[in-house]
Amino acid sequence: MDAVVQFKNFAKSFDEKVVHEDVSFEVRRGECLGLLGGSGSGKSVILRTLVGLEKPDSGSVLVEDQDISNFSETELLEIRKKIAYVFQNGALFDSMTVFDNLAYALREHTKLSEAEIRDRVLRGLDDFGLKGNEDLYPASLSGGMQKRVGVARSIILQPKVVLYDEPTAGLDPYNTRRICEMVLRLKERGATAIFVTHDMPAAFSVCDRIAILKEGRIHTIGTREEIENFDPWVSRFIQGEEL
Ligand SMILES: Nc1ncnc2c1ncn2[C@@H]1O[C@H](COP(=O)(O)OP(=O)(O)OP(=O)(O)O)[C@@H](O)[C@H]1O
Ligand SMILES: [Mg+2]
Repeated sequence: MDAVVQFKNFAKSFDEKVVHEDVSFEVRRGECLGLLGGSGSGKSVILRTLVGLEKPDSGSVLVEDQDISNFSETELLEIRKKIAYVFQNGALFDSMTVFDNLAYALREHTKLSEAEIRDRVLRGLDDFGLKGNEDLYPASLSGGMQKRVGVARSIILQPKVVLYDEPTAGLDPYNTRRICEMVLRLKERGATAIFVTHDMPAAFSVCDRIAILKEGRIHTIGTREEIENFDPWVSRFIQGEEL
């Protein structure tokens, strides 16, 4: 099956701290890969590397067979149009309304008319149960709504690849379910995704395979059935026991 994203022998350290020693995995076209691991295991660094916000120390990072490790800023702009990044903290523009947060990328990167933009934004908000909130500013939204606006904004350009960094963290079960449903809907439309989370039920509900990072390597990768019985450490990790 063809791979949209590939990490090959990826290594990354910050000063003396080795975060990734030898990480290799691939994300297949149309697949949602769960990326799990303890806090500080380097999940966000992997996502950041994929959009060129970090550079590998060694190894390669391929997006549709192109090694992006040494891409220029101009080349990275093209990659960032293809890959949406749902940031861990939402990263909304505080000084813009919900409407303008969603419209921003459409105004910057497409030639759509304002009427078409309005249509796309309102449809995007409706998909996330956010209709009627378009004139509000992020500060007046609940945490769950901010997260949903963040996801809606990230995917407005209908990207081929979506990177979700803990999109359900801190959400109640209802909002968690809504985000998971949206991830599944995008998957049905053919999007390839990496889903970083600490939420095992959410991971099992949306991911085709799950990769677990440990000590700078992919400790295991596979379907739920494959990883559940992989080894006692993984079983304890999945059950949320102290390691
Ligand atoms: N720019 C940076 N400078 C220095 N250290 C960094 C930098 N970015 C990440 N690190 C370190 O790399 C390690 C991995 O960070 P990362 O944010 O990827 O962890 P994570 O798996 O996403 O954790 P969490 O689940 O808490 O979000 C951490 O020890 C972090 O302190
Ligand atoms: Mg993180």
